[in-house]
Amino acid sequence: MTMGLNSELVTAIRARRSVRSYRNEPLSPDDESFLRALVDELSEAEGPSGTRLRLLLSTELELSGKVGTYGVIMGARSYVGAVTTNTPGSMLDLGYLFERMVIELTARGLGTCWLGGTFDRKSFAAGADHAQGEILPIITPVGYPAERSGLQDRFMRTMAGSDRRKPFGELFFDGSFDRPHAPPAAAGPWAKALELVRIGPSASNKQPWRVVLAPAGAASPTAAHIYLARTPGYIGTKLGFDIQRIDIGIAM
Ligand SMILES: Cc1cc2nc3c(=O)[nH]c(=O)nc-3n(C[C@H](O)[C@H](O)[C@H](O)COP(=O)(O)O)c2cc1C
Repeated sequence: MTMGLNSELVTAIRARRSVRSYRNEPLSPDDESFLRALVDELSEAEGPSGTRLRLLLSTELELSGKVGTYGVIMGARSYVGAVTTNTPGSMLDLGYLFERMVIELTARGLGTCWLGGTFDRKSFAAGADHAQGEILPIITPVGYPAERSGLQDRFMRTMAGSDRRKPFGELFFDGSFDRPHAPPAAAGPWAKALELVRIGPSASNKQPWRVVLAPAGAASPTAAHIYLARTPGYIGTKLGFDIQRIDIGIAM
């Protein structure tokens, strides 16, 4: 894996946003081989809980329009789907590994969009044989962002409030939940990584990650404890897999 927190990837984390409108053209041969190599590499990798993903790549899929992604994604022809078991650990690992892929693709100038709800699993999984107990929680389109984003794109962004993030002190804490961390610089060596967590993607932009740095009051905290603050009544909990645990993997 080529990934450390080098400046190219930090730039990509900052630049990434969900792309739902694509130029309706296939990937160049170079970009397609890059994507294939990345998919192969990540299928070999283990996430923090020790599970692996099975990544399915389709470069000739027509999921745009009403069937497929319910009109949410326009113009994309390549998609990557993640197949895994339905356990707490594998949801975490899915978030971690799939976000690595998303960041690497962003660094290459390719657009992506995490999709856990608005796609028809049957259209994607036709031909993909799942073993007993495996599920397909997430897919993403991969392609060249269109110059102008379509109506459906703006609608989804508005619905999820995608351009807003919670402030630092609402997500990150100094030693215990009654001590919000503000200003960011007070988080010492963690400040930069936490800021990158803050701007990361999450399902419906719920931003359920909370981090408590320890020990309290330290100029150089030595541990970051990540918590999941579940969103009460969130419709995403009806999907049959723990979508907010995927968000925690993304943060990791
Ligand atoms: C696990 C997960 C599932 C998501 N599912 C969908 C989805 O089904 N449809 C969609 O349009 N966007 C989906 N998104 C994208 C989020 O709405 C988006 O990341 C969030 O609003 C922040 O916007 P940004 O990615 O542009 O920064 C999902 C994101 C994540 C992390």
